[in-house]
Amino acid sequence: MRTLSHRLQQLPISSIRKLIPLSDAAKKNGVKIYHLNMGQPDVKTPQVMIDALQKWNKNPIAYAPSGGTADYLQALETYYHDLGFLFVNTKNILGTIAGSEGINMAMFAVCDPGDEILVFEPFYSSYKTSAQMWGINLVPIETSIETGFHFPSQEKIETLITPKTKAILYSNPCNPTGTVYTKEEVQLLIDIVKKHNLFLLSDEVYREYTFVDRPHISILKYMQEIPQQAVLIDSLSKRYNLCGARLGNLVTLNTSIFSGALKFAMSRLSGGIVDQYIGAQLVHVPKSYTQDMQKEYQSRRDIMFEGLSKIPGVVVTKPEGAFYIMAELPIDDAETFSIWLLEKFRDNNETVMLAPGYGFYDDPEKGKTQVRIAYVLEEKYLRRSVEILEIALQKYNN
Ligand SMILES: Cc1ncc(COP(=O)(O)O)c(C=O)c1O
Repeated sequence: MRTLSHRLQQLPISSIRKLIPLSDAAKKNGVKIYHLNMGQPDVKTPQVMIDALQKWNKNPIAYAPSGGTADYLQALETYYHDLGFLFVNTKNILGTIAGSEGINMAMFAVCDPGDEILVFEPFYSSYKTSAQMWGINLVPIETSIETGFHFPSQEKIETLITPKTKAILYSNPCNPTGTVYTKEEVQLLIDIVKKHNLFLLSDEVYREYTFVDRPHISILKYMQEIPQQAVLIDSLSKRYNLCGARLGNLVTLNTSIFSGALKFAMSRLSGGIVDQYIGAQLVHVPKSYTQDMQKEYQSRRDIMFEGLSKIPGVVVTKPEGAFYIMAELPIDDAETFSIWLLEKFRDNNETVMLAPGYGFYDDPEKGKTQVRIAYVLEEKYLRRSVEILEIALQKYNN
């Protein structure tokens, strides 16, 4: 048999999903696992969306237009108008199969193989997989737990720009750090991309979930200032707890990026028409839905942050948004520790599942002693998870 492609063999496996067989095995043996490893919240999807799904009566279930159904795009337009971005309209919104496809499309649109994209490290692990699929080199810009993972200076960022650099990609609020960037930081990126003529790809799938006194600064605020350079990557997965419906979109005023991404969309014919029908109901979701979620995540953040801060040797910085926290643990290898938690450690026949930090770094050595924790469980389970983690760390280190 011919060999498989090198790129297939080199594709990284998500550090998050890699441990799933171990958790499945533990569950089979009756162990209760608190999942802090994945951004899959336990909260309900808006009822209007579930009701709509139950009323679906179109037969056959046909293809949708490649760039999204008219209703879905119209609903997204309304959503952006409600946020105050009146210039956004259905002509510059492209429906995608969730944010994941949006990331792939945006990367594919702006880079050739061998090109470089700057990303703030630690970064969302799928950026690495997508970049590798397209032959793009991710160039990490280091940030640190001590500065709350905020951006370094303009000079530091600029030293990493080469003739091959095509874009800066960032998530705001950030997965995995929970950092919400200030107006000055977003302005810094605008200045850099203007000066060096780069694209700016802003992933804002956690837009609604911030816990700071300042507003979230969307790239949409600057999109008309850099119309050829800006691309927004968006998703309904987290906003409406619709992770399994696979709904997202791009917004760009660059018509070449838009038509290129549409060609990409045509190659997969269609997104899910039933999904988009559900997504179009967003106009009927009361504002209180995301407001309540924001409050819920904020109180979960407080529990997790306070709990972790009390564990001897654990270093954390208070997340400002999303529902993740990066924690430095007093261990020498977070993956070994995560495996041990699933295979060996039990407290009352319960354990926790963590995402080893290396998956969020370009150089795995850097995140070796860190884990990413998703505080997506209800309060009593979060409290119990922190308790288990503390007991486990004590035992592991003895
Ligand atoms: C920062 C960020 N961007 C994009 C995504 C993609 O999510 P989805 O494909 O469900 O929209 C995620 C998912 O966790 C994420 O954390």
